[in-house]
Amino acid sequence: MKNNKTALVTGASNGIGFELAKLLAKDNYNLVLVSRGEEKLEEAKQKLSTYGVEIRTKSSDLSVYEDIENLKNWVDQNNIDLDILILNAGQGYGGDFVHSTDLSRELSLIRLNVDSYVHMSKLFLKDMVDKNEGKVLMTSSVSGTTPIPFEAVYGATKAFVNSFFYAVRNELKTTNINMTLLMPGGTETNFFKNADMAQTKIGSMKKDKPEDVAERGYYALMSGHEYAYGSDDVEYEGDILNRMQSESQKAQRHRMISEPSPKS
Ligand SMILES: NC(=O)c1ccc[n+]([C@@H]2O[C@H](COP(=O)([O-])OP(=O)(O)OC[C@H]3O[C@@H](n4cnc5c(N)ncnc54)[C@H](OP(=O)(O)O)[C@@H]3O)[C@@H](O)[C@H]2O)c1
Repeated sequence: MKNNKTALVTGASNGIGFELAKLLAKDNYNLVLVSRGEEKLEEAKQKLSTYGVEIRTKSSDLSVYEDIENLKNWVDQNNIDLDILILNAGQGYGGDFVHSTDLSRELSLIRLNVDSYVHMSKLFLKDMVDKNEGKVLMTSSVSGTTPIPFEAVYGATKAFVNSFFYAVRNELKTTNINMTLLMPGGTETNFFKNADMAQTKIGSMKKDKPEDVAERGYYALMSGHEYAYGSDDVEYEGDILNRMQSESQKAQRHRMISEPSPKS
């Protein structure tokens, strides 16, 4: 039987977001796919069309305030009633904060990884609360549980998402809105290449498969669990190591894998 429910996924054209969209399509959710590149969105739509659900795409740069306002207006004008909201679009950026990274890129990263999560939540949660029904998944990172040198701004954006997520989740505890936090560790997507980190130790390490990470997040979302990590190893890192060690110990541990090599 067809499910008439609809999910909006940001960062749906690739990686973890695409795999989450695939799981939703398999469960017969109609989809709204959001990211910047129109061609990649169209490709994702084609790939997901085998599941026979209704798929719409909306190209938006979520680091831009007006694009988020336009996205919400477009959703309203098309009478799209969202049952699931997946805030997943995010980017990384590696490098030496004092000597080499670019401030305008860091501020743009904050607009995407932080501002867009707040802005999208502000605009879309109200509708869910009004009908007292809905599910929200926010993709953060295990990096939200530790400072991460040479990705200093990225790590801080994910710590923000973790704190913001738990606060809003608590505010909504008397409603039927379920909120789940997905905290991947290193995952085989375009993330590290786009973050200029392909040459670092962490960039070249073996990583989790995006489909496995998405599966864990999706299971948690559908089961009403508050959070999921990308794998058992990442869960150990987030829930044991990062709760046991001091902030400076954790920072030093991460430095060993994120410091750019002298040649890179
Ligand atoms: N991969 C990892 O190791 C890892 C680890 C921990 C957490 N995460 C988190 O997982 C999430 C998904 O990342 P991923 O690994 O799947 O990365 P990915 O393969 O690079 O996919 C990122 C997706 O976000 C979209 N996107 C990027 N910038 C955007 C913008 N300004 N506006 C709208 N959409 C944008 C991309 O499409 P366009 O470029 O066409 O816009 C793409 O669809 C992110 O929040 C990331 O921080 C990833």
